[in-house]
Amino acid sequence: MNEILLIIAAYLIGSVPTAIWVSRYFFGIDIRDYGSGNAGATNTYRVLGAKWGTLVMITDMVKGVIATSLYILIPYYVTKSNEWDRTNLMIGLGLAAVAGHIFPIWAGFRGGKGVATLFGMILAIQPIVAVCCVGVFLLVLYLTRFVSLSSILSSVAFAVFILFIFNDDVTLYRIFSVAVALMVILTHQKNINRLLNGTESKVPILKHRDR
Ligand code: G3P
Repeated sequence: MNEILLIIAAYLIGSVPTAIWVSRYFFGIDIRDYGSGNAGATNTYRVLGAKWGTLVMITDMVKGVIATSLYILIPYYVTKSNEWDRTNLMIGLGLAAVAGHIFPIWAGFRGGKGVATLFGMILAIQPIVAVCCVGVFLLVLYLTRFVSLSSILSSVAFAVFILFIFNDDVTLYRIFSVAVALMVILTHQKNINRLLNGTESKVPILKHRDR
């Protein structure tokens, strides 16, 4: 029962629609009506600038870290449980937060694509893997300047890391890694279409390179 309450709490934390609230309360707009229409850090960056984009990115990540770490509220998972039981609960909590981010109860169930919150979740569960994923993200971003492609390829890299390199022996974790990659591909369908037909926008801060 405690676990279920924590999962609900994680969903509510993930549901905090940072990009939507920032755009509404500081700019009087709904970020979902601008740019790519996504309620995430990239679109906030694109529409409202680097400062606000960074704020949204950090807050969305922190949502993932906090929600995934809620297990500490159940003493059993801190002192007695084995590592895998704890990891399984953390996966459940993190996924609930990501679901909240994508389908936020506080914003008509129309949220972002879940990448920053997912990253926060992975950071809380396995920091080394998270750092490797950031490496892939930054490399793809540097080479292509597409945030969406960077998000997709770093999530695929996450699955590859878990399945073949870190070789984690937790079945749920292995399933989870593949689910993450599929979920990110799914939430980026529009981006994939734009990438394929050449209309995806590149990250604005590096625009001067086009000249
Ligand atoms: O994580 C979201 C990012 O990959 C793409 O955002 O606004 O370009 O659709 P956006």
